[in-house]
Amino acid sequence: MSADPRSSKPTGVPPTMRAAVADRFGPPEVVRIAEVPTPRPAAGELLVRIHASTVSIADQRLRSRRVPRGLSLVVAPTIGLVRPRTRVLGMDAAGTVVAIGDGVEASALGDEVILMRGTPMGCHADYVTIPADGEVARKPRNLSFEEAAAIVFGGHTALRFLDGVGLAPGAEVLVNGASGAVGTAAVQLAAARGARVTAVTSGRNADLVRALGAAEVVDYTREDFTASPAGAYDVIVDGVGGTSFERLASLLRPGGALLLVVADLPAMLAAGRRSRRTGLVVDFRGGSMGADGMARLAALAEAGELRPVVDRVVDLDDIVDAHRYVDTGRKRGSVVVRVA
Ligand SMILES: NC(=O)c1ccc[n+]([C@@H]2O[C@H](COP(=O)([O-])OP(=O)(O)OC[C@H]3O[C@@H](n4cnc5c(N)ncnc54)[C@H](OP(=O)(O)O)[C@@H]3O)[C@@H](O)[C@H]2O)c1
Repeated sequence: MSADPRSSKPTGVPPTMRAAVADRFGPPEVVRIAEVPTPRPAAGELLVRIHASTVSIADQRLRSRRVPRGLSLVVAPTIGLVRPRTRVLGMDAAGTVVAIGDGVEASALGDEVILMRGTPMGCHADYVTIPADGEVARKPRNLSFEEAAAIVFGGHTALRFLDGVGLAPGAEVLVNGASGAVGTAAVQLAAARGARVTAVTSGRNADLVRALGAAEVVDYTREDFTASPAGAYDVIVDGVGGTSFERLASLLRPGGALLLVVADLPAMLAAGRRSRRTGLVVDFRGGSMGADGMARLAALAEAGELRPVVDRVVDLDDIVDAHRYVDTGRKRGSVVVRVA
């Protein structure tokens, strides 16, 4: 999607669109369907007609302002302090490019894409804009729009974190929260790199995570994964939180990596010091993705190394139900919102 002096006027695009809007922080019921102005692609941007998005834990956090301990003020400039800075939620999408801004290659028109908007959100709507050189890539050809939307949030996160560690074949990887959007992607991506994956989930999801490539399953309702022998793992991907650093660190081999997908402020502040003290990699950020990373994500899906896990599909009109379900904390993989 490279630059070109030509541009397309967004013909056939209505001036207003349907969107799921939240004007205040609160429970799922703060979200409502409204008619809002359709965004226009600025120079260098694509306008994408959205076919599918997901309601993720990020939507829950931005909607409810429920963030890990200590981060409330830190994230205020991004998500707002008194009311949401972003009225339209939705981080990820799969859709079709229907208009382009100045300087974007005209051949991008009609492309079927996946995209990650990140904290600017905006994907629970008919249309969204994204920089043409941003986190956008061709939709995997083997996936429907709904399936494609389901790989973006979890796949993006898992890939960013796993890219930071070299996984030798046979490496022992523990994924805590293995049945969530991030966990189902992390299990698959680690297994595809030859790791032997131990998945921590409840018993009802054991078959799911085994089918995704987990060699071992720890049912957290019956067993405590921190009772594993010292030094059992090369990498721990923690998508749940709440376990002390000392307990997690004791499970890692020398030079191992602790990937804190969820971390509170004290854990973030201590990460560098703990890493120096123990010699472990302690990462709460993950790497960046960019357009190349998104293209890799799509390629992994086309290669069958990252399969979508769709818990359920809801229509945009029923998005409050989707938020209610995500709030249970029990979803498996992704809750997809059908927009178009
Ligand atoms: N740092 C970043 O950039 C970044 C990006 C994305 C997400 N995150 C964070 O990562 C975390 C996970 O995100 P997600 O999208 O994967 O969440 P999710 O899809 O909402 O996770 C739901 C899953 O968590 C499982 N679960 C709940 N309690 C558990 C426990 N005690 N042990 C093991 N599994 C448990 C549930 O399985 P059961 O029903 O079997 O309990 C359910 O399948 C969130 O806290 C999110 O904020 C961070």
